[in-house]
Amino acid sequence: MSSVVVVGTQWGDEGKGKITNALCSDADLVVRFQGGANAGHTVSLDGVPIVFHLLPSGISVPGIQNIIGPGVVIDPIALAAEITGVTERGVEVGENFLIDVGAHMVLPYHKAIEAAEERARGDSAIGTTHRGIGPAYADRCARDGIPIGALAAFDEFRRRFEETVGRKNEHLVRLYGEEPLDARALLEQLRPVALSLAGYLADTPEILRAAIREDRNVLFEGAQGTLLDVTFGTYPFVTSSSTTAGGVATGTGVPPSLIGEVIGITKAYTTRVGAGPFPTEVTDDTARMIQERGAERGATTGRARRCGWLDIVALRYSIAVNGIKRIIVTKLDVLDSFETIKVCVAYEIDGSRTDRFPRTADELRRVHPVYVEIPGWMSSTAEARQESELPPPALAYLKQICKLADVDICSVSVGAKGEAIVEFTSIF
Ligand code: IMO
Ligand code: MG
Repeated sequence: MSSVVVVGTQWGDEGKGKITNALCSDADLVVRFQGGANAGHTVSLDGVPIVFHLLPSGISVPGIQNIIGPGVVIDPIALAAEITGVTERGVEVGENFLIDVGAHMVLPYHKAIEAAEERARGDSAIGTTHRGIGPAYADRCARDGIPIGALAAFDEFRRRFEETVGRKNEHLVRLYGEEPLDARALLEQLRPVALSLAGYLADTPEILRAAIREDRNVLFEGAQGTLLDVTFGTYPFVTSSSTTAGGVATGTGVPPSLIGEVIGITKAYTTRVGAGPFPTEVTDDTARMIQERGAERGATTGRARRCGWLDIVALRYSIAVNGIKRIIVTKLDVLDSFETIKVCVAYEIDGSRTDRFPRTADELRRVHPVYVEIPGWMSSTAEARQESELPPPALAYLKQICKLADVDICSVSVGAKGEAIVEFTSIF
């Protein structure tokens, strides 16, 4: 099978971008299937980090066809700016990039409404990335959205946009006491953007199905993580898309029967940005150490990420939801200087032990993690490129994860650079 899905098994920021980019040596196409500019996928380009938000992480690799599928929500202004930014870094964005005409747009009113809604939520705010993701997906479901293909006929788009801004302004002004948006000024901003994106618009599902039938290697790049999935995550502290493997079919038009292996990306510890329950969160020196060593700051919003230990209960849940058989463990090197490392192997709730991941955020908030302590290795893994170069306690940590989560590990990332990977088995 020539298609592989890369999904995060935690709350995002597992290193999906780096891994997707690294796997490009064997891939022909890289496809985003959900999410939007809320993603922040950091890839090393000539040794310097570059962050992709909407562009697939294969864009900097020559010879890869990159596609944004119809399940993604695209802020056209943000995408045009991202293309300009990466072009300045020497990345070519031309025939190697296609945008599906059916992907819905995130428009300025989505961001304005989200900001007003988050403010109104007060203490119960979700802590979103303020990229307009929730309102854009809500409009798509409410049949009030505008697919990006509409930009190709700008006059017709203008009519729809003006009419929609009129209604959204009612919402902003009457419900939230905000200033109305100026549709004309926004259209002035959108016109050149529409022109600059027009050449990338395409009907992509058949391109993808044909590629898989022809045995070309297709990589589906997930954004966010399983625990942020709108259905299977820690609702309502989730994003508004299907981040799990099931989202590939609905987000690209590739049927489940053509989807191959699902690879989970698992950080050697856990982080979370934004609000919501996080059983293995730590707030002492350990958290500060992880945060510093792992540069755990949001690539999209710059917020400090909450940090904690690896949670096997959550990992097993993600493995089950996605049908994962193999994972790639990332950022192992961040744990290099810990004397002992904790792993959560079960939860305790109302005095009884369970290995079931709760289906509600309220229940998850009430669990206490049950830990096992594993000896650290207290030496650098950053230069390791083969299994034999990993310190034995680091290998023991990885083996313990495999055993506890009943999964295989295909490789381990030990640093930000593309080559900082120890490969056990190949993906394609
Ligand atoms: P990548 O692809 C981590 C989180 C936000 C917030 C919640 C909802 O880099 O892993 P949204 O703006 O999506 O409506 O916010 O989801 N979130 C992420 N956290 N990594 C991401 O993307 C995220 N994208 C959204 O912090 O808690
Ligand atoms: Mg990220």
